[in-house]
Amino acid sequence: MEVAKILHMNGGIGDSSYAKNSLLQQKVILMTKSITDEAISALYNNIFPREIIRIADLGCSSGPNTFLTITELIKTIDKERKKKGHKSLEFLIFLNDLPSNDFNRIFRSLSTFYEEDLRKYNMGRDELFVAGVAGSFYTRLFPSNSLHFIHSSYSLHWLSQVPDGIENNKGNIYLTSTSPPNVVKGYYEQYERDFVTFLTYRSKELVKNGRMVLTMLGRKNKDRYSKGCSYEWELLAMTLNFFIAQGSIDEKKVNSFNIPLYNPSPKEVMYIVEKEGSFTIDILKTSKIHRNSCDDEKYNMILMTMYSLRPKKIYLDSKYEDQTNITKNE
Ligand SMILES: C[S@@+](CC[C@H](N)C(=O)[O-])C[C@H]1O[C@@H](n2cnc3c(N)ncnc32)[C@H](O)[C@@H]1O
Repeated sequence: MEVAKILHMNGGIGDSSYAKNSLLQQKVILMTKSITDEAISALYNNIFPREIIRIADLGCSSGPNTFLTITELIKTIDKERKKKGHKSLEFLIFLNDLPSNDFNRIFRSLSTFYEEDLRKYNMGRDELFVAGVAGSFYTRLFPSNSLHFIHSSYSLHWLSQVPDGIENNKGNIYLTSTSPPNVVKGYYEQYERDFVTFLTYRSKELVKNGRMVLTMLGRKNKDRYSKGCSYEWELLAMTLNFFIAQGSIDEKKVNSFNIPLYNPSPKEVMYIVEKEGSFTIDILKTSKIHRNSCDDEKYNMILMTMYSLRPKKIYLDSKYEDQTNITKNE
């Protein structure tokens, strides 16, 4: 089954909806805010004078985080504009996710967003325009040279498909210490192919001097069986195996099921960005992410935020000239 046709977070606003169960992802947006702010301020200074700024949030889902992301981005640009005494701008925001995302909920909530959130910044419908773009970020989504800023948080660890040839990952649903070596290789290679595709398409869509900030869930070391990444999936696999033993689930179904995601290390990400060649990373920062359910250090995951990923050939505003080294905060 194609991931792009079926993957979605739970829609609506009920108890099991993504909207009501995304506090961790909200924390991540706020944790990485200073990095996003820095990138977007640099963008503003680079592309001014301009009447319109086009921004895309990739993997926007639906719920408060969708609007939090937009608000934080425009707040920073507006602050920059006021500091410089420039006149106000128009924003065109593209919200992207897979087609089965609850886009209806986003558009139903827009009037509240305009009336409550945007009013605080003296902004209204004649200044900020929102459009939904349904499709996989592993395909072309926008015309050439059309976006000034690309943002994506907590989404890029999803793969475009379950890796081929991993049918022997029996009893597991992701990478664990009992996964055979071909499964580990299969997951990494799928990630590499997908991330290369992502970068190639985005490099076509971003304008000269555009900026991109990507935050993804990764692992801190080179161990591809890292406990931090497999913790929840191992628990889920144990539960599924228990149901198999009870005879209430078909073993074949569980054996053929694997989760289409991958948690890269900073080194893997840097290697792929360099190999693909369209972008340079100004700064790659890693931050630890603690999960409430577990205090053990080895179960922690990291967030990787790549700041100001920008097309290689378009250099350089002097302020950032000396920051082209990648800094790692591990
Ligand atoms: C955990 S949610 C994060 C949502 C939001 N950015 C946040 O921070 O709360 C991940 C989102 O990525 C989306 N996603 C996964 N793969 C995708 C793809 N190939 N193209 C577009 N969106 C994708 C999922 O549908 C989901 O809505």
